[in-house]
Formats: sequence, structure tokens, C-alpha cells
Amino acid sequence: MASFEHSDDFQQAIMLLLAKAGWAVKMPSAQGTNGSTPPKGYDLEAIRGNEVVAIQLKNYRVPIKVPQIEKFFEFLELPIAERFTKGFLITSSGYTHSALTYFQQANNDKVQLALYRDNKVIRITGHENGIEPPRRELTYLGVFTCKGGVGKTTISAHLAGAFALSGYDAALIDLDPQKNLTTLLGEGVKLPGLNNKLGNTVTVYGIDEWDDRHPPDVNVVVCDCSPVLEANPVDLIKKFSYCIIPTTLNPLGLNKNGHVIKRTIEAIRRVNQTAYLFILINNYFDDESNRSRVLKEEYQRYFAELSQEDERFKFIDPEEVAIRNSKQLFYWGYHIYSGDRYQLAFNPVGGRCLPKADFLNLLDYLEEHSNLEELKRH
Ligand SMILES: Nc1ncnc2c1ncn2[C@@H]1O[C@H](COP(=O)(O)OP(=O)(O)O)[C@@H](O)[C@H]1O
Ligand SMILES: [Mg+2]
Repeated sequence: MASFEHSDDFQQAIMLLLAKAGWAVKMPSAQGTNGSTPPKGYDLEAIRGNEVVAIQLKNYRVPIKVPQIEKFFEFLELPIAERFTKGFLITSSGYTHSALTYFQQANNDKVQLALYRDNKVIRITGHENGIEPPRRELTYLGVFTCKGGVGKTTISAHLAGAFALSGYDAALIDLDPQKNLTTLLGEGVKLPGLNNKLGNTVTVYGIDEWDDRHPPDVNVVVCDCSPVLEANPVDLIKKFSYCIIPTTLNPLGLNKNGHVIKRTIEAIRRVNQTAYLFILINNYFDDESNRSRVLKEEYQRYFAELSQEDERFKFIDPEEVAIRNSKQLFYWGYHIYSGDRYQLAFNPVGGRCLPKADFLNLLDYLEEHSNLEELKRH
């Protein structure tokens, strides 16, 4: 999809356009202390009047995703970026639906997104980018592991929430006898809309309230499954197009969880052979000393055989998509004690919302690693 074979040519084209528009353009100076290269937060610096703009250029083959936008936001908050009045992200390959949703929701007025097309730079303002969600047939997703406390309820709720943020109405079915979702969200929540639209809903249903012959008018159904496989209605498991299997990367849990997950997958496959099964790391810590990478590789090895046998099974590389450990998710649910309204952990803290970025990123991943077109024909 990239317009240029070489990123240098892309850079040249942009520099020319900027110069034509009256900007003075500089390359970042390589003046790192002790001879080190400076952090590569931007590719060009453009100055015009009082504006000093950090420009990041992305000549990728695939559209820009949530983490790249998040990273640019982070860069612009660093002390070394203080002198910039604005940041422009210019890409030749577009943005994913989730990336645009994340950008709109972030309300970061220092950052401007743009698209390079036909030798023009087109600004994407918050409101007229037409980020209509793709059409979607009723899709069932299960969140399931035969284990408590790994984040099934947290993930179900926020996955449904991410769908709502992206423009879909979601149903959340509480299959866990503990009925946590009902306690945490009541009958449900409404999320703010994009482009001045009304917004979308996450509505909670108990299993006794759910009649799949007459589903309410929703696009997605997320099921917070009971950790006891047999306790989940088989008819519902059969309907899953996706099943998210949350687990964690702590060393003592690795073998035990791995074993549990293998059994979980065998059990699901007995009744549903077509669902995409994804192992998702929850409570992820990015670790400087590489421990998370070592553990991840260990886990990947554990599931390698299964991945080969079953082309619809995937261990999601946590460096690509994971649900990071966050204070927001840890304390999600506090509202039931503080008497606040029902809510998801999508409120930014200090301008940042890890859960929002992670769950939107997960949506992109699900669409990318499955064949929705094929599913629609079923
Ligand atoms: N990514 C995360 N970061 C921080 N805390 C988390 C995260 N995911 C889950 N938690 C914490 O773990 C607890 C258990 O999660 P929960 O979703 O109830 O698991 P399950 O439904 O599998 O029993 C939650 O109350 C929450 O405090
Ligand atoms: Mg639960």
C-alpha cells in the first residue's frame, strides 16, 4: 500500500511540499549527549512564523495502528519535545479504523494526522474523516479460560466497550454465575459518539434474558464465560466466531496456565471448529530486562504445535497486542464502592488511557487475523 519504495523518496516529496507551502524544513540534529543518537521521535522539523512542528513520516506497507499514534503522543510530552508547538504524523498508507477512533477520542490538539495521496498532504481533522465503521453482521465473541482471576470479566467488558467506541452497539452476556458484570455495569453503559453522533451502547444481559432467536439490535455479542466449561450453554459456544483466551505471563503460572489453556481449547473445538481462538496476554508489563520476552518465547514454544495443527488458533504476540497492566483496570469496579455511576476504565488519566489504546488495538488485530468476509457467508 505504501506509495514509495524508499522512505527517503517519501521524505523528499514531503520536504518539497512543505517548502512550497512556505515552511522552513530541517532534519533533526544528531546532537545526542555522549555521542549517542537522539531518540527518533520525529523525522523532520518545520518552522513557519511561531509554529515549530515535529513531523513524523510513516511510509509503511500497512495502515498506521493505535500504538504508533500513542507513541507519537508520548514523544510530544517529553521534555525534549517541549519546544514543538505541534506534531504532524504523515503517512502514505492510511490509518486503521481503531487508530482513527483512538485519535478522535484522545482530543490531543497538539497532534495533527495527515495522509499523503496524489502528491498532496490531506489533513484529517477530528470530524470529517468519515470513519464510518465497516458493516458488521451479528458477531459472537467469547472470553474464556478455565481459571478465575485472569481478567475474563475485565476483558469482556472493555472489549464490548471498544466496539462501542468504534461505532457498534454491543451486548455483553454474563455467563459467570458470580454475575460480576451485572454488579459492575448494571444494565449497561453508553459511550460517547464520534463525529457528533449519538454514541453507542454496551448492554448487559443475563443468560436467562438472552434469546438468540430474537437478539436485540446489536452488532456484536461478547460473552463473559463461566470458568467451568460445561456451565456455558453449548448453543452459545457454537455461535462464537472468536474466542479470546486471556492469560498472564508470570513465571509460576506459565506451565499451569498453559496446561489449562490446552484443555480449554480442546474442549471448545469439540463443539466449535470454526471459531478463531486467540490467546491474549493480560496484565502485561513491558520489562526492560527482557524477562517478558523470555517468558513469551517460552509460552510460544508451548503452543507451537497447536498453532501448526490449527490454523485458526493464535498466540497473540504481546509485543504486538496485549492488555497492559494498568491502574485504571486494576481499580475498575471501584465505582461500586464510591457510589459513582456505572463506567468502563476508559477515562484518561494524565492525558493517557492504556486500556483504551489496548482494546482498540485488539479490535484491529481480530479483524486482521481472521476472515470476516468468510464468516459473513456462514
Ligand atoms: N490489565 C490489568 N491491569 C491491572 N489489573 C487487572 C488487569 N486485568 C485484571 N486486573 C485485576 O484483576 C482482577 C480480576 O480480574 P477479572 O476480570 O475479575 O478476572 P476473571 O473474570 O477471570 O475472574 C480485577 O478485579 C482487576 O483488579
Ligand atoms: Mg469474572
